[in-house]
Amino acid sequence: MNNLQRYTVNNQSVWRGRLTKINGVCQDLMPNFVIRPLNRSDAEEMGNLSATIYSNLGKGEERFIHRHDKEYYHEVFDNEDIHYIGVFTGSRLIGMSYIRLCRDKESFDAEIPHSPIDFFEGGRTTLVAAMGADCVHPEYRGNQLNQTMIQCRLELALSLGCSDAFSIIDRNNHWNMSPYFNNGFNMYASATDPSDNGKIALMHNDFQNNSKSNSSAISVPYNRLNLIDSLLAKGYVGNGYDPENGNIKFVLNRQNERNRLRNNFSILPQTSKGVYCVC
Ligand SMILES: CC(C)(COP(=O)(O)OP(=O)(O)OC[C@H]1O[C@@H](n2cnc3c(N)ncnc32)[C@H](O)[C@@H]1OP(=O)(O)O)[C@@H](O)C(=O)NCCC(=O)NCCS
Repeated sequence: MNNLQRYTVNNQSVWRGRLTKINGVCQDLMPNFVIRPLNRSDAEEMGNLSATIYSNLGKGEERFIHRHDKEYYHEVFDNEDIHYIGVFTGSRLIGMSYIRLCRDKESFDAEIPHSPIDFFEGGRTTLVAAMGADCVHPEYRGNQLNQTMIQCRLELALSLGCSDAFSIIDRNNHWNMSPYFNNGFNMYASATDPSDNGKIALMHNDFQNNSKSNSSAISVPYNRLNLIDSLLAKGYVGNGYDPENGNIKFVLNRQNERNRLRNNFSILPQTSKGVYCVC
């Protein structure tokens, strides 16, 4: 992906790659881009990029992302659990996104609303990364920059001790499906975003268990929301997107299969050794 190389500068990760397209036109010279952590001094540029992104959203895309001004970005750096990264070509900011470290159910629910899985159940101590605010300047789309930013944020989340990563995507935002699926995320649930009533898909990347399911796949157009909901309810997860035909690929989730089996076993008689017998 973009010939990405990773460096450490002042104890911080910095990535460098090459742009292959600008304004949709292939570049012979392939200029460099750099991805680095953002800080308060970037707040003004972040506000400008947010305004550009928002004004370029198509009709019906207003819920894809929230707009913020430079004052918001100035203050966001007060929260030490929010880590923004930015993509630069020269001194121009052309993409940005964040991870927020969630240490409890409250911060997790604020980022990933209505998740059917409670990762903090019973006061379990864990650290998970919620990803958000993914955006790329329209002139620089087509370089898989968000896929690259997700890869960088996963590395960052791992280095910060996270066990899992999550994100939400508007269910109509097919532009942002491949970037997550190609980075090992599964679509495991759907919900309504309480902040704007948008229909969202919940995405999960389990760092410990990234084995692919070998169940046969079912392909469904991304906008067949009811059909997708019924597959999710049956324990299927989305794990791929084909931009050629707009289909999401669903497979049975091994973990869900295991949970279902466990639930079935619990109604079966127990043997003397405490092992459930399968009749
Ligand atoms: C989601 C987003 C960051 C992806 O940008 P990206 O990483 O540059 O996308 P890709 O490189 O994977 O693009 C693949 C193709 O889709 C096109 N594409 C990507 N986003 C597009 C968009 N919003 N509108 C139209 N075409 C788009 C690209 O031009 C490229 O086309 P090509 O293959 O003909 O060159 C970008 O669409 C964006 O900033 N959208 C607005 C904000 C948003 O929706 N954020 C999501 C918040 S969860």
